[in-house]
Amino acid sequence: MAENTLMEKLVSLAKRRGFVFQSSEIYGGLGSVWDYGPLGVELKKNVKDRWWRAMVHARDDIEGLDAAILMHPRVWEASGHVAGFTDPLVDCKQCKNRFRADDKRIKGTPGQPDAQCPVCGSKGTLTEPRLFNLMFKTFMGPVEEQAAIVYLRPETAQGIYVNYQNVLNSSRQRVPFGIAQIGKAFRNEITPGNFIFRTREFEQMEMQFFVKPGTDMEWFERWREWRMEWHRSIGLTPTKLRWHAHGPGELAHYAKAAYDIEYEFPFGWQEIEGVHNRSDFDLGRHQEFSGKKLEYFDQAANERYLPYIVETSAGADRVTLTLMADAYREENVEGETRVVLGFDPGIAPIKAGVFPLVKKDGMPELADRIYHDLKKQFPVFYDDSGAIGRRYRRMDEAGTPFCITVDGETAAGQTVTVRARDAMTQERVAIAQLGEYIGSRIRGG
Ligand code: GAP
Repeated sequence: MAENTLMEKLVSLAKRRGFVFQSSEIYGGLGSVWDYGPLGVELKKNVKDRWWRAMVHARDDIEGLDAAILMHPRVWEASGHVAGFTDPLVDCKQCKNRFRADDKRIKGTPGQPDAQCPVCGSKGTLTEPRLFNLMFKTFMGPVEEQAAIVYLRPETAQGIYVNYQNVLNSSRQRVPFGIAQIGKAFRNEITPGNFIFRTREFEQMEMQFFVKPGTDMEWFERWREWRMEWHRSIGLTPTKLRWHAHGPGELAHYAKAAYDIEYEFPFGWQEIEGVHNRSDFDLGRHQEFSGKKLEYFDQAANERYLPYIVETSAGADRVTLTLMADAYREENVEGETRVVLGFDPGIAPIKAGVFPLVKKDGMPELADRIYHDLKKQFPVFYDDSGAIGRRYRRMDEAGTPFCITVDGETAAGQTVTVRARDAMTQERVAIAQLGEYIGSRIRGG
């Protein structure tokens, strides 16, 4: 399948089945902002729940946090975002479009007469590159003035650093320990795109692990291993995952070492998560800018130090897109194309479809009862419209792993057919066993 075609098909399926819609669509949309529909919100919630379970519930050395999006403006001076979170941009004086200075479509050198605008084609109309900060600004309080500026956070990490002592003092944790958080972040990206891959409003799943200096590289390696394992555990194809090590020129200002987990999207290998050794940069800067001591006192060793931080930072939207791209397949079944989202059952937004074979002979009533019983345990979907084959196809596109059909034998034998999405095989299962049947197949999910 051609690469662009696959993305186009994915965007179209996402809208058709209610995964993702363009924001404010009836007004023509808002650039690179997306809304999650009924299936999308379930899928993304499953991603976040799996992350939370692995990072917080399954471990006893990580605490959860939900810090506010708006923070004291000094936070972003300390973090380096006010001075350094910038992209070099050029403007076309003719068509008023704006581009990153390194946009591969630009011919010639911006600012020089030979430079050509990639949109309107004018020559000599591109300005010299200027630095543009990616943080969204807004005003706090009734007055729109410089002193009232606050930023929409461009990462959730800073909310963790400034709360590190609060968490330490209110929990029973000792270094080494971590703080995990899931939340919205905002970046005024200049070249957003590829659907929900790079957006201006997105959710991050970030964990900051505080360690004794000198043990940081050991923890860094452990976290690399655990994070890669997590991506495999949600069902991503292992051969489409790889590591990318940041070379000296690529390292962010805070990083001592950094690796990205990359996935092979239809548009190439791209980062889905970063694992960073941030050294004592963050706590050091916040100590300096706030004037508050942020050192840790190790009672057992009777020593004080500023912990080093190992960060794992993944995008919930990006992982959701990765799951959709990874799951998408087309098959030829008896001369017709079957579109399937082959999600791992644990991550699938709907676990089972429930259908009466026909709308008579008591089948709808029985199916409705089964549907309401199962709904207490799992997200399930009732469908009685159209031929059974079409109902199966709709569930295949939604990525639903099981389809339960009430047929002519159900009333007498108290059994139904359960059709497996991938193999398309059917087996008879007792109604009383359905909860256990589905539950055992989505465990881990
Ligand atoms: N605290 C470190 C940090 O924010 P990052 O590499 O800039 O590091 C981490 O971002 C992750 O957040 C990325 O791997 C990606 O999954 C997600 N992310 C970053 N920018 C994004 C955007 N504009 N749209 C969607 N996800 C984004």
